[in-house]
Amino acid sequence: MTKTYIEEKPNNTGGRWYVPVMMLGLVVLVACTVKESFISPSGSTEDYFRSREVERRVDSLMRLLTLEEKIGQLCMYTSHHDVTGPSTPIYTEELIREGKVGAMFNAFTASHNAHLQRIAVEESPRGIPILFGYDVIHGFKTIFPINLAMSCSWDTILVEQVARVSAMEATASGVKWAFSPMCDISRDPRWGRVSEGSGEDYLLCGKMGAAMVRGYQGEDMSSDTSLVACVKHFAGYGAVQAGRDYHTVDITDRTLRGVYLPAYKAALDAGAGSVMTAFNEVDGCPATASYYLMTDILRDQWGFGGLVVSDYTAVMELLHHGTATDSLSATAQAVNAGVNIDMESDFYRQYLRRAVEYGYVSEKQVDRMCRDVLRIKFYAGLFDNPYQNTDVTREKTAHQKDSYMQLSRRVARESCVLLENEGMALPLDTALNIAVIGPLADSRDDLLGSWRAAGDTLGVLSILDAMKERFPHISYAKGCPMMEDDTTGFARAREIATTADVVLMVCGESWQWTGEAASVTDISLPSIQDKLLQVVRGVNRNVVMILLNGRPLELTDVIPYTNAILEAWYPGSNGARGVVDIISGDYNPSGRLTMSFPMRVGQVPVHYDMKNTGRPYTPDNPRQKYLSRYLFTPNSPLYPFGYGLSYTSYEYSDVSVEEDHYLTGEPIRITAKVKNTGAVAGWETAQLYVRDVIGSVTRPVRELKAWQKVYLAPGEEREILFTLTEKDLSFYRADMTWGIEEGRYDVWVGGDSNASEGDYFYIKE
Ligand code: NOJ
Repeated sequence: MTKTYIEEKPNNTGGRWYVPVMMLGLVVLVACTVKESFISPSGSTEDYFRSREVERRVDSLMRLLTLEEKIGQLCMYTSHHDVTGPSTPIYTEELIREGKVGAMFNAFTASHNAHLQRIAVEESPRGIPILFGYDVIHGFKTIFPINLAMSCSWDTILVEQVARVSAMEATASGVKWAFSPMCDISRDPRWGRVSEGSGEDYLLCGKMGAAMVRGYQGEDMSSDTSLVACVKHFAGYGAVQAGRDYHTVDITDRTLRGVYLPAYKAALDAGAGSVMTAFNEVDGCPATASYYLMTDILRDQWGFGGLVVSDYTAVMELLHHGTATDSLSATAQAVNAGVNIDMESDFYRQYLRRAVEYGYVSEKQVDRMCRDVLRIKFYAGLFDNPYQNTDVTREKTAHQKDSYMQLSRRVARESCVLLENEGMALPLDTALNIAVIGPLADSRDDLLGSWRAAGDTLGVLSILDAMKERFPHISYAKGCPMMEDDTTGFARAREIATTADVVLMVCGESWQWTGEAASVTDISLPSIQDKLLQVVRGVNRNVVMILLNGRPLELTDVIPYTNAILEAWYPGSNGARGVVDIISGDYNPSGRLTMSFPMRVGQVPVHYDMKNTGRPYTPDNPRQKYLSRYLFTPNSPLYPFGYGLSYTSYEYSDVSVEEDHYLTGEPIRITAKVKNTGAVAGWETAQLYVRDVIGSVTRPVRELKAWQKVYLAPGEEREILFTLTEKDLSFYRADMTWGIEEGRYDVWVGGDSNASEGDYFYIKE
């Protein structure tokens, strides 16, 4: 389409670049010497050859661009929102017209983006289309549970479907680029952004990230229903000190490479077309100025050929980090590091030309940066079909389809984690008189969580609404506000709790307390909610709590006042129904935690793959005092990684490694039996953990290596088989080479990271 368009466009120099593309193409085809560095989106041979075609087109276009025009491709600006929807300042539109804008974000709706695209394609000197980005994080219009919640489903196929639906919706509204997946390892629940990631484990986080990339980009990035994925925040953002957002990151290279990088890498290996820099520094260098991260690792070692975008004003922030003396050097640092697009700082536009003139940045480097952007635009099909996402008729029927809302409900129920269920307090009989109490019980807004994209509360049911749909005898009292010390609602709450058979309390965090710039030092329930719980418990011994929140909470003091606790996170547009599916027993809870819940916040960071230390604590160790332990609190978290209850019970047995000894490179086969020993059918997540007992460097006490979800009828037993390869057991050894080591490995298979059924094997070179 662009072919025709550019060729037909009168007085448009952009039209001329297509002819050289064809000619150059022939030359390249004959010479056949182009080195392929791009990881093809689907990894297929067809894409491999197509990428050669893309390189030819990039080359030809590059020949026509002036330095100013190349810089234009590296600038991205935000659109704004007013009451009637997105709007873009006239000034920005003028920049687009001048060819000084390569990408926009926060601009959406088919008509608005058509308007901006028309300016770029029809009025700017080269007619290069805009790449429209947006924070499509856990849905676009249909909102799914927050990412931390979705990861608790341990279901990568489900998560891929979510990303696919998000892509279908977002691309119908002008968006072509999702700033997702976030692959930051989250080990500190004080950090508000743990809600956006997939928890503390890099294997799980990487698999979730890869699933999202597949879902967003589909088979072909150029399809009008595909989004370009953006793996973020590169790198190590999850390790901000004390969980304070944007704070310093100070980790060893071994930890960076061994723990924090693998998840980004897994998502990139799935073909993600872009990467976003992290706000933080790593080893004294802000990520946005880090040649080590953006070029050495990302491009040279991993072969990434997509584009890197800075995080919001992160180029400007180099001034605050104190590595750049002025705007010019901040610009030079970012470009030289390999950051293609400047998000919102407006530094590249203002200073990059001068940086080239002064010799701080070579024109060759600007060319490299520009080529990456154009390459992705070609891959995204923007040159061939710049208006692919601007069909207003398609948009009208693209959102919140029944099947999408059904998926939202399904994902919600598979993301909930049952934390406590004393005496089978759950599920509830529909004949019961239920008092629904709590500041979040009738909230619709909070169900969407942070980063809700274009989602709104229209048609969203609160937990109370959904309870009323399923249970006929419901009374309701809010009880208290979220945080303020106001007890005026206690009387009514006490009154309805007194006469009810059971109380369903809906407590937790306001959605605004999670996400970006939402770090906290106290992860327990606000004291007013605690007080309300105690009042209610004083008059009714049957208390079930539903939690809506975006991070692991400190629940140690809540447990004594409840019979059951269901962690429902922020479950999304149709999430309330999904939660009620569990409350009613229509669905047997199957979610498993992907972040440990500390017993006390002082344990943080507490994660399952800790090191043993020289003085490991075990209850039977006679040197009780001089051990690595706390005086008044256990080392272990309240709920470990992988944990979650069900309405049935599962038993593991016969965990067995096929051979005692393996040679390096041989596949290792591990079998285990899992049995449903309860009365209802359910999904169990069988988890395989491994410990490398002696290493050239200290190794975690256990690491997740694989998992399988199995559906078991009551009484049913299944044998499951895991096969591990050398790659699964490789790590950064003492000399920083990556590989396996000889010696003993312990394995466990079970329902959480405390699994006790195990076996072992030896590896020999
Ligand atoms: C800042 C956030 O850190 C990032 O995740 C997001 O994609 C950008 N803002 C754009 O909104």
